[in-house]
Amino acid sequence: MKVLSVVGARPQFVKLAPVAVALRDAGVDHVIVHTGQHYDALLSDAFFADLKIPDPDVHLGVGSGSHGAQTGAMLAALDAVLAEHRPDWTLVYGDTNSTLAGAVAAVKLHLPIAHLEAGLRSFNRRMPEEHNRVLTDHAADLLLAPTQVAMDHLASEGLAARSRLVGDVMTDVCYLVRDAVAGTPATLPDGVDPAGPYVIATIHRPDNTDDPARLDAVAAALGTIEVPVALLAHPRLRAKAAEHGIELARGRVRVADPLPYPQLVRAVLGARGVVTDSGGLQKEAFLLGVPCTTVRTETEWVETLDGGWNVLANDLTGLDRLATRPAPSGERARPYGDGHAAERVATELTTG
Ligand code: UD1
Repeated sequence: MKVLSVVGARPQFVKLAPVAVALRDAGVDHVIVHTGQHYDALLSDAFFADLKIPDPDVHLGVGSGSHGAQTGAMLAALDAVLAEHRPDWTLVYGDTNSTLAGAVAAVKLHLPIAHLEAGLRSFNRRMPEEHNRVLTDHAADLLLAPTQVAMDHLASEGLAARSRLVGDVMTDVCYLVRDAVAGTPATLPDGVDPAGPYVIATIHRPDNTDDPARLDAVAAALGTIEVPVALLAHPRLRAKAAEHGIELARGRVRVADPLPYPQLVRAVLGARGVVTDSGGLQKEAFLLGVPCTTVRTETEWVETLDGGWNVLANDLTGLDRLATRPAPSGERARPYGDGHAAERVATELTTG
């Protein structure tokens, strides 16, 4: 049995980590293809090293570009790789341009496709991720869904017969890393005391970064938060702020590079709150029991909203108050699985 994983962007490396272990344990021949969508060491190599992911077997080196140019370059490069390996499954992850390219390349060669994290929907067609998810789900032969809500979306699109509920592999890795970093010191930017109350913030979605007026409003709102804010800046955020002359370090905001995954988990564990537009970080905050404020109009991880653990604040009103609100009282539901999703993924691939 041969599985070929196509990955390229930071969140996909996190998902790949537990899957690579489970496939190895199941005796699967696993080929890892890195498209090169993310190429900065902090967005790519650090994840392979920290999460002990085997080095990619193939690196396409595609890099950045417009959606069409980037996705098209991956598609063209994947033809020869898929033709050489003829995998039993091409496994694609999440919702990035690398996901879509992997799925389209495989379907054109009549190779079976499995989509991990299938069935998520924001119903916001402005998001590139939403096109990628919908198109990938409809091209795939096996839909590995993280939640019942995702299963319901797939069923409503006529895809129930190909769908399996496996749980969320990000839960697997988040819990493992949480246990490993417990008791270690948090690494935070200068000016953010790990012992004091602080907020972790990330902003990288085009809807928040690309329009200068919007980015300025987001930066201003972060600047109103009354405790130190560690703004872990994706390269896109820094680039757009520089291009438009927008100061990010306002009020108590300290701008720093993205953190390696274990350090991110450790930083969130000690945080008073998280402010983000990332999908993965919303869920990580939820899993780690830290209140999250999401700077978007909607979330595909709707379960995080239950009980007030996550709050949508696209209009930025009251962000200062939301960012430091206390954690809700009461039990948190466990909608994202038990930390053993990757084993179920391996089972589905080897028996499916
Ligand atoms: C991509 C995914 C997004 C995911 C995010 C995680 C798509 C459409 N988007 O967004 O779903 O949440 O990854 O981080 O696939 N850049 C660098 N160094 C890099 C990579 C990118 O400087 O290693 C800069 C470039 O200026 C590039 C920009 O960031 O143009 C955007 O990168 P891109 O890969 O297009 O999308 P992300 O915003 O990272």
